[in-house]
Amino acid sequence: MRSITKFLICAALLCSLAVFPVFSAPKYIIGMSQCNLGEPWRVQMNADIKAEAAKHPEIQVIYKDAQNDVLQQRAQVEEFVDAKINLLIISPKEAQPLAEPVSKAMAAGIPVIVLDRDIIGQNYTEFIGADNVKIGRAVGKWLVKNYGGKHAKVVEIMGLQTSTPGQDRHNGFLEAIKGSDLDVIFRADAKWLEPDARREMESALARFDKIDIVYGHNDPSAHGAYLAAQATGREKGMVFVGIDSLPQEGVAYVKQGILTATFQYPTGGDFAIKQALKIFGGEKVVKRIVLGSRMFTKDNVDAGGEAIP
Ligand code: FRU
Repeated sequence: MRSITKFLICAALLCSLAVFPVFSAPKYIIGMSQCNLGEPWRVQMNADIKAEAAKHPEIQVIYKDAQNDVLQQRAQVEEFVDAKINLLIISPKEAQPLAEPVSKAMAAGIPVIVLDRDIIGQNYTEFIGADNVKIGRAVGKWLVKNYGGKHAKVVEIMGLQTSTPGQDRHNGFLEAIKGSDLDVIFRADAKWLEPDARREMESALARFDKIDIVYGHNDPSAHGAYLAAQATGREKGMVFVGIDSLPQEGVAYVKQGILTATFQYPTGGDFAIKQALKIFGGEKVVKRIVLGSRMFTKDNVDAGGEAIP
């Protein structure tokens, strides 16, 4: 009889544990400083972080959105440092102004993972991002291969030139088209933003009767330029190329025939969490992780694009 009672008590306890699982407080708090959530690519980065973090109950991620404001991002990083988080992930708006608060975090013993855009001085634990010079070069090479020899006139809608991807995508592209007959007739900094890109393209259209190619440093820029050209009925004869390749954005534009090509820029969000766990586990991580990239055109988009060598 006594053993039956014991059995029933144990069974009841087990049942209650199954219904009311015991939640333990997370062991590590990660602060994620996002420069802007106004763009789909950054929403995706946070979603990638969230999905990976959800697999690890020992960590909790707290998100802050600086709304494209450098001063706000600096203040938010300082708040994280004051709150004594265990690790900082930052995707900084600009290279120079975010270097100082990141250094402060490092000085406070908080490891820092810098994602996507770099900072001056490289005082952080690890940088994770794709090679933007290589991507810009791949865009240039692909354009020369497909449109070289026709004296094509090119518009370059650049990303924020105080951020490293904007500088690198420009430099890689210039290097690849050097010596070709591609002629860049208009160049403007649209700061990564679609409305700015649209406005800049309107100026280019007003000034030049012949525009053959538009290189947008991201897909929103290429799309903004496309909308400007479409509004004047001139989009049909033009080639639009962008960077990012989100499935619901750039890749969809290629499928719809809006962009001729898009070059992938992975967010690295999931990877940042994997690296954070290594750091918590006391593993030594490398200073720079370079993520691979793919390109999508109408010919390969249904097959999942192809790797950029
Ligand atoms: C989003 C974004 C992306 C771009 C990346 C560069 O803010 O502009 O479109 O690839 O940032 O840092």
